[in-house]
Amino acid sequence: MGDKYYMFVNGEFREIEESRGDYVRSQYEHLDKYIARGGYKYFGKFLSEDNKFFILELLVKAGLLGGGALSRFKTIASSANRPKYLIVNGHEGEPGGFKDRLIMERNTHQLLEGALLLSLALNVDEVIIAVNERFRNARAMIEKALGELRPYLTSKGLLNKLPPITVLLVGSPYIVGEETALINSLEGNRGGEPRLRPPDPTETGLFGKPTAVINVEVVAAVPILISNYYEGREIVIEKYFCITGDVGKPGLYREKLTVGLNELLAKAGGVKEEDVKAVFVGGGVSSGLAHSSKIRVRLTPEETRKLGVFLGPGVIIALSNNRCIVDVMLEVERFFSHESCGRCEPCRLGTKELVEVLEKVSMGKASEEDLKWAETVARTMMETSLCGLGMSAGKVFLDALTQFRDEFEEHIRGVCRAGVHFR
Ligand SMILES: Cc1cc2nc3c(=O)[nH]c(=O)nc-3n(C[C@H](O)[C@H](O)[C@H](O)COP(=O)(O)O)c2cc1C
Repeated sequence: MGDKYYMFVNGEFREIEESRGDYVRSQYEHLDKYIARGGYKYFGKFLSEDNKFFILELLVKAGLLGGGALSRFKTIASSANRPKYLIVNGHEGEPGGFKDRLIMERNTHQLLEGALLLSLALNVDEVIIAVNERFRNARAMIEKALGELRPYLTSKGLLNKLPPITVLLVGSPYIVGEETALINSLEGNRGGEPRLRPPDPTETGLFGKPTAVINVEVVAAVPILISNYYEGREIVIEKYFCITGDVGKPGLYREKLTVGLNELLAKAGGVKEEDVKAVFVGGGVSSGLAHSSKIRVRLTPEETRKLGVFLGPGVIIALSNNRCIVDVMLEVERFFSHESCGRCEPCRLGTKELVEVLEKVSMGKASEEDLKWAETVARTMMETSLCGLGMSAGKVFLDALTQFRDEFEEHIRGVCRAGVHFR
C-alpha cells in the first residue's frame, strides 16, 4: 500500500486523499513550531523533580489511564531489573480507529516529548515506538522528528541524560496491538500471539524485562497535562473520538469527557436520536454495543463503565434503524474469527461457532436452542479466552443478543424488520 491509506466504502477500497504522503508531509509540525507553541517549556523543571511519578497520577485523574495501571507502573519505576522499556503502542488496528495515526503524523514532537517525560517518570532505559506497518507516513514523520530532536537535545546538554527512542514497524493484524502480542512481535517471535498472564509485562515484558505499554494518545497527552499542572490550571479532561457508521460527518472529534454520547453523535452529522438503533462505544466493535435507549450517557470513565464498555480507544460506530442487528453482528463475528490468532480454543472455536449460528439466524434456519447454545459459547469465551480478543467477541455478541433478542427471535420466524434478509 506504500504511503497511501484506503478505506472500505460500499464494497470497494477508496484512497483517503488526505493521507497521501505529500499531504502528510505538508501537515508535519517542525520542532521550532512545536517549541513556539509551548513544547519543552517545562522539560527542565520536570527533570529536576525528585518524584516524577506524579505524571502517571495526572493521567489517571484525566481519565486517560485506568486506576489499576498505577500500581502496575509503580512496579516498573522501582524495579532494579534493567534494562526497562517503555513501548508506545502505535498499532491502532481497531476497526474504526484513526486517532493514533493522525497524532503520530501531525503531533509528532508532542508525542516524542510525552514519551521522554514518561520514560523519566517510569525510570526506563529505552523507548520503542511500535508503529503498524500500514502507517509508513507516521513512521517517516517520527524518524524526521527524531532527526530534528537529537541536535536540539544535544544543544541543551540533555541527549545523554535521556533514554534512546527507536521506532519500529510491526505487523498489521488486529491481534498484534494487544500488548503481550506486541511484545512477542518486537522480540521477533511468531508474530501476533498473546502471552499468558501472569506474569504481567510490567514485571516480565520485552526480553523478560519490566515493560510499560502505553497507547499513543495517552503518551501525547502528557506534555499538555504537565503544562496545566505547572501553570496551576485545572486538568483539562479531553479525549479524541473517532466517529463513523451511520453519521453524516464521520471523523475525528476532540471533546471533554463529560460530553453526552447523543451530543457527540449530533455533532457528527445531526443524526436524530430516534433514528439511532445502537452504538458501538469505546473500543468500537471490541468494547460493547449500547442500545439507543442508553445514548444519553455521559462519556466519563465512570458512566461508560456502568454501561459495561471501555472508553479507551474512543471508537464510536453508530447504527441506524435501517441496520439489521443480525447482519451487523455476523460481520463483526466474521471479523473476530478472521483475526483470532487461534492459540486458545475458546476464541478459535467460539468465534467460528458464533459465525455459524449467526449465519443460520440470518437464513431463518436457527432455533431457540441455537440462540441458547450461542449464549453459552459467548459466555465461555468471555470467561476463558486467553486475551481480550476472544473476550470482546463473546461480550459484544451477548450485548447484541440481550438488548435485541426480539430481532433475533423475529429472524427465527423468518422476519427481518430492516428488510435485509428474507426478501
Ligand atoms: C485484540 C486487542 C488489540 C489491541 N490493539 C491495540 C492497539 O492497536 N493499540 C493500543 O494502544 N492498544 C491496543 N490494545 C490494548 C493493549 O493491549 C494495551 O492495553 C494498551 O496498549 C495499553 O495502553 P493504555 O493503557 O495506555 O491504553 C489491544 C488489545 C486487544 C485485546
